[in-house]
Amino acid sequence: MGARPIQVTSRQMLEPLYEQATGPSLNFLMDLIGRPTCSAWCWQDHSETVASAWFTSVGDEGELIDIRVAENKRRRGLGASLLRFALGELTTTGLAVCRLEVRQSNHAARRLYKGLGFEDTGQRSNYYRVQEGREDAILMAIDLKAILNS
Ligand SMILES: CC(C)(COP(=O)(O)OP(=O)(O)OC[C@H]1O[C@@H](n2cnc3c(N)ncnc32)[C@H](O)[C@@H]1OP(=O)(O)O)[C@@H](O)C(=O)NCCC(=O)NCCS
Repeated sequence: MGARPIQVTSRQMLEPLYEQATGPSLNFLMDLIGRPTCSAWCWQDHSETVASAWFTSVGDEGELIDIRVAENKRRRGLGASLLRFALGELTTTGLAVCRLEVRQSNHAARRLYKGLGFEDTGQRSNYYRVQEGREDAILMAIDLKAILNS
């Protein structure tokens, strides 16, 4: 069990994780991974890919594009472990800040981010489409230097 980098050849092992996913599609993410600004890691349990996390970064600023854990593996600390690992790796490449946006109603993700040290930095009203109407995006960021020095 452990983290490994996602590469342009990783598509097949990620497909089960994205079968019923909301959020960015695997096509979109696989297109990103071909670019030098994208880094991503997945978590493997034996041969099964059970989580993935995708980032873009320019200079010392990065953005979390997507994180997901297989439905039957949630609430076991995997999301936190993968995100902690990935942020650690990105910090060694010079990343100082990581930003993200998350649906206001996504309490699981918001709790995950808060637990790792992300803080709310703003809000985008009516940003996401929902079945009936729209919902706000919460903007969050983590100061990785402060976390490392604390
Ligand atoms: C968000 C997600 C990645 C969390 O992964 P996970 O492996 O279940 O999270 P963890 O087990 O590491 O839990 C991390 C924290 O979130 C909390 N949490 C996780 N799921 C929760 C839920 N459904 N409700 C409330 N809190 C939840 C945990 O209790 C833990 O908090 P704690 O440390 O204070 O106890 C997972 O639910 C998922 O894949 N969701 C669908 C995709 C998604 O929404 N991605 C985020 C896009 S912005």
